Amino acid sequence: MIDKSLNEFLGNTKKFIIESVFNGWLKLVNNIITTFAFTMLLVQLMDYTPEQSGDKQRLIVLVFVVFGTLVLRHYLIKAMNDASSKIVCEVKLNLRAKIIDKITRRGMAYKDDIATSEMLQLAGEGIEQLENYYGKYLPQLFYCLLSSFTLFAVVVSINVKIALVLLITTLAIPLFLTALLRMVRKVQRNYWSSYASVGKEFLDSLQGMTTLKIFMYDEQKGQILEEKTEDFRKHTMKLLAMQLNSIGIIDWIAYGGAAAGIIMALRAYQAGTINLFGAILVVLIAGEFFVPMKQLTAFFHIAMTGVTAAEKITKFINVPDYKSGDKEVPENCDIKIENLNYTYKNSEFSLNDINMELENKGHIAIVGPSGCGKSTISNIIAGELVIEAGNVFYQNDKERVDMTDVKRQLIPEMITKVTHNGYIFKGTVRENLLLGNEKASDEMLLEALEKVNILGELPEGLDTELLSGGSNVSGGQGQRLCLARAILHDTPVYIFDEATSNIDVESEEIILKVIEEISKDKTVIYISHRLKNIDYSKCIYVMENGKIVDKGNHNELVERKGLYYKLFKKQEDLEKYRFGREA
Ligand SMILES: Nc1ncnc2c1ncn2[C@@H]1O[C@H](COP(=O)(O)OP(=O)(O)OP(=O)(O)O)[C@@H](O)[C@H]1O
Ligand SMILES: [Mg+2]
Repeated sequence: MIDKSLNEFLGNTKKFIIESVFNGWLKLVNNIITTFAFTMLLVQLMDYTPEQSGDKQRLIVLVFVVFGTLVLRHYLIKAMNDASSKIVCEVKLNLRAKIIDKITRRGMAYKDDIATSEMLQLAGEGIEQLENYYGKYLPQLFYCLLSSFTLFAVVVSINVKIALVLLITTLAIPLFLTALLRMVRKVQRNYWSSYASVGKEFLDSLQGMTTLKIFMYDEQKGQILEEKTEDFRKHTMKLLAMQLNSIGIIDWIAYGGAAAGIIMALRAYQAGTINLFGAILVVLIAGEFFVPMKQLTAFFHIAMTGVTAAEKITKFINVPDYKSGDKEVPENCDIKIENLNYTYKNSEFSLNDINMELENKGHIAIVGPSGCGKSTISNIIAGELVIEAGNVFYQNDKERVDMTDVKRQLIPEMITKVTHNGYIFKGTVRENLLLGNEKASDEMLLEALEKVNILGELPEGLDTELLSGGSNVSGGQGQRLCLARAILHDTPVYIFDEATSNIDVESEEIILKVIEEISKDKTVIYISHRLKNIDYSKCIYVMENGKIVDKGNHNELVERKGLYYKLFKKQEDLEKYRFGREA
């Protein structure tokens, strides 16, 4: 009934769980005193004789005890709830921090492990439900065991048989829940996968709404979404039915057990084996045995929904991290890729025996047909994909360090990658640019905007408000803003992966000049389908099907008349044809 794998998220909560269970136990003892005092009060009232002043005094004391313990009960419940809230806050913080930490460490590669929509569901609702496991279910489980034995100790002093019947029927409840566990987990798992499936479909449709509208596919997508939602409804109903049925069975056990205890107490009173006080006490206390167990059953079901979500969260958190070493990156180093092989987890594609020398400072290009592996290599160089040791090295005259031995946080300080789809955050242009360099002055920001030829297009300059994903700027403007941000980052290595693909011809000219300028004192790895942009590269790597098939400068490659020449020629012909038509 306790999931050991979840203990690692307990953190500081153990002490709050103990606090909650202890307060619960104090509340129980307080309840027992109330019941004792109330029973004695009833018995006293039956034998009450006004003439005896002792009786009156005793009655007053008992009334005070009953009211006093009732007030105390209120405070103990509050203390229990406070401890429970502390557990919830601690666990939520702990888990969300772990998830964010993991996403940050995995970078874009987190999408290989979990879909974004599922991540949102788990980090939001999943954790909300998991809080019930830690905040309600765990304390209640321990409290139930403690209360059963405490109440047993009270009743056993009145009658051993009654105490045993009550204890056994009480303990039958957690045993029954344990027996249910496998089925509950199966139903919960199906419920979560169906929920995740609706989430994925919904997010995908929302993100691609414009495309769906253009191709008039929105109705069909709506139909698919409806089918998935119906499937989710069925799984939810199955889950609720299972919960209600098991709560029903638990009610039978609880009321049956309490009734058996009460009947046995009344018969024992009739037979004279227990006195009136004992009989009334058992009648009042029998219900107490089962109240915590009934609550445990309710908590069990909501907690198990969270536990199933936690299985996925734990799986994600436990995905092996990138190896992070403790070495520094050598100054002014070349990047050497040696005999690198790489295969994606969920794809047939692989990079085979890649060897590259990315010399410090200068313009190096990677070209090749779509899908040949250019971006995969750039992601490896940028440290976004996990690779084995012995494949990528940072090397200068004095030392040679394996990439996997370097402190991971140093890689983003060394390499800036600019792609065609860099992200624009909601906020001002200034806020977006400061991500590149938080210490940059307004002058530096304006200079960067000027370089990428966008300043004139921002109505309020640095204070221009941008919407999430750059939805209020054009694709080309967004790309130029991302370039400006990258320029501000000022790292020794830059990767431009189709970074100018959305940009108009005039802006592209300006940006290519900026990139050429950058390559004078930095290493620029330039990936582009437009081969005209790279004819000045000191080395061009030509790729095909995950392999490097040629390398050299533009003239050498053209002379060899290999794949590069074919691609170059094809592009030249296309452009001639286009310009011919335009003329
Ligand atoms: N995250 C991923 N998971 C699985 N397979 C992937 C992933 N990313 C890319 N691939 C596969 O790897 C192959 C190479 O992709 P890559 O993005 O490196 O190509 P590319 O040369 O950059 O192409 P393009 O010029 O179109 O950008 C593709 O066939 C693609 O299917
Ligand atoms: Mg690519």
